[in-house]
Amino acid sequence: MYVPEIDFLTAEDIPAILRINANSEMSWPEEIIKSDLNNKSNNEITYIGAFALTTEAPLLGYAVLGREKRLGVLMALIVDKNFRRMKIASQLLIAVSDCAMYLNFKRLMLRVKKSNSAAIALYSQMSFVREKVRQGYYSNGEDAIVMSAKLPLTLKL
Ligand SMILES: CC(C)(COP(=O)(O)OP(=O)(O)OC[C@H]1O[C@@H](n2cnc3c(N)ncnc32)[C@H](O)[C@@H]1OP(=O)(O)O)[C@@H](O)C(=O)NCCC(=O)NCCS
Repeated sequence: MYVPEIDFLTAEDIPAILRINANSEMSWPEEIIKSDLNNKSNNEITYIGAFALTTEAPLLGYAVLGREKRLGVLMALIVDKNFRRMKIASQLLIAVSDCAMYLNFKRLMLRVKKSNSAAIALYSQMSFVREKVRQGYYSNGEDAIVMSAKLPLTLKL
């Protein structure tokens, strides 16, 4: 396990977020990141980052919490390839859970590619359950599994 420093991300962190995206098989779109973080009045989207506890404090991963109607939605969760399986995503999810509760959400929802067994294993461990399948949801035609969890998230061992 690696214990990072968890903090909110701002426009200053955009280059670091893009570096993580470039080093991942999956990314949150650059134009959305720039628009979200440059628009300071947007309080509907929260970016949370995990930073290494070294002098340079590089960003190791990030999560994006959004809202769809009255539901809290995990829009993105990505960890640097070199720092995976160290519970960084798990710790980011706990921070997302705290933040979502602060925003008065009762449940957290997400969509994940059916083939993304790593993420599905992580979410299941963090008390998310499968709700339904959205057929052909992604641009490549892949199905999305919709999962949700009651807040606060808990770690199922
Ligand atoms: C999915 C992802 C965020 C996981 O990040 P991580 O920091 O490595 O996850 P954690 O270390 O917190 O993993 C916690 C648990 O999730 C499960 N898990 C995580 N990665 C896994 C993998 N590759 N295979 C199987 N189980 C996995 C395990 O149960 C793990 O616990 P363990 O290591 O004690 O077995 C990371 O692999 C990633 O960035 N993937 C690319 C982006 C992505 O797919 N995001 C999700 C989009 S919906």
